[in-house]
Amino acid sequence: MIRFKVEDREGNVQDIEVPADISLSLMEVLKASEYNILATCGGMALCATCHIEVEEGVEELGEPSDAELDMLDTLPIVTSNSRLACQIRIGEHLNGAYFKLMAEEES
Ligand code: FES
Repeated sequence: MIRFKVEDREGNVQDIEVPADISLSLMEVLKASEYNILATCGGMALCATCHIEVEEGVEELGEPSDAELDMLDTLPIVTSNSRLACQIRIGEHLNGAYFKLMAEEES
């Protein structure tokens, strides 16, 4: 199992556990865990509604792609640890990470 922490927009922190061998993105796991993420583009790095900040474990994630960086560039609030959850694949490298939801909630 892979275990990481997720902080929602209200500051509530929850441990999420997922099997190491599922072929999903972090965005898909967050949606399946009932987090309010629009994911309008379906995971194509085009909508940024899956914007998260990586509080811990950013070194393990590797460099963002150009498409991801281009999209992050359009956001009003970004930090050096901002990422798009749809561009992060689930895997052992996420063990012990800490993600914070950044994008606006669905209204
Ligand atoms: S789901 Fe649209 S950018 Fe990630």
